Amino acid sequence: MRVIDTVGEMQQQANLWRREGRVIGFVPTMGYLHEGHLALMRCAKEKSDRVVVSVFVNPTQFGPGEDFERYPRDLDRDLGLMASLGVDVVFAPSVENMYPQGFQTYVEVLEVTRPLCGAKRPGHFRGVTTVVAKLFHIVKPHVAVFGEKDYQQLLTIRRMVQDLAMDVEIVGHPIVREPDGLAMSSRNVYLSPDERKQARLLSQALAEASRLVEAGERDGSALVSAARKILAQGPSIRIDYAELRDAETLEKMGALDRPGVLALAAYVGQARLIDNAVLQP
Ligand code: PAJ
Repeated sequence: MRVIDTVGEMQQQANLWRREGRVIGFVPTMGYLHEGHLALMRCAKEKSDRVVVSVFVNPTQFGPGEDFERYPRDLDRDLGLMASLGVDVVFAPSVENMYPQGFQTYVEVLEVTRPLCGAKRPGHFRGVTTVVAKLFHIVKPHVAVFGEKDYQQLLTIRRMVQDLAMDVEIVGHPIVREPDGLAMSSRNVYLSPDERKQARLLSQALAEASRLVEAGERDGSALVSAARKILAQGPSIRIDYAELRDAETLEKMGALDRPGVLALAAYVGQARLIDNAVLQP
């Protein structure tokens, strides 16, 4: 496994592979890897001949007062995990290399980034699309894998790739969960043991809504209230949003008359966690 830390060297490696006719698979991450990330890498490996994983905590997607500085980092541990998985190249650039003096170009996707996390974290998706577009130009992947845990991010990337005719196939991977249902996240390390117990309520709230849909409930506000009621059982939980939206456009949805996504964001103590479930009518 080769570790590359400059843009130029990564582009050279990608060009070489492309000349050899290799299919390049790519998984962008911010590191502090967990089983969710590893599942994406296995998926990329199945779909390509060479797998690149980027590890880069991207400052432009964090707002002022968010957790950029304290975001967990452990590159040595991450490298061990990736080596045992058979990753070919880890691209781990510095902030200065990705955003040199004078940087002033951004990629912005409009409608689909407005609600949910886009409303709560201004500028977040502009940072995500900018860094992912730049990473695509550096790694030159044929296939890139993203998790459905960040559902709005996945839709936003798909939109960007379609709108800008980027020649890369975007593959979505289902959410990987802990045995008790908590969606895996690098931010779960922020949870105290008691908060960790309460964090289960997010996936339980989604499960309850899915159960109601199975039982025939189609009213959006009934589904959202049921989810909120479960979250209210956690004394350290503060809901940031809980909304049912169209699963493709993220437009508001009164009734589940087409596929919808129930999207949750909640603070559990200091940690802001997100989770979602796609609901079929
Ligand atoms: P990060 O949070 O490290 O996540 C990297 C990838 O792993 C994303 O595609 C995310 O959706 C996926 N992922 C995280 N937890 C998951 C889980 N429990 N199950 C399935 N997939 C999961 O998302 C980012 O980094 C950044 O925004 C990035 C795309 C790298 C741009 O900076």
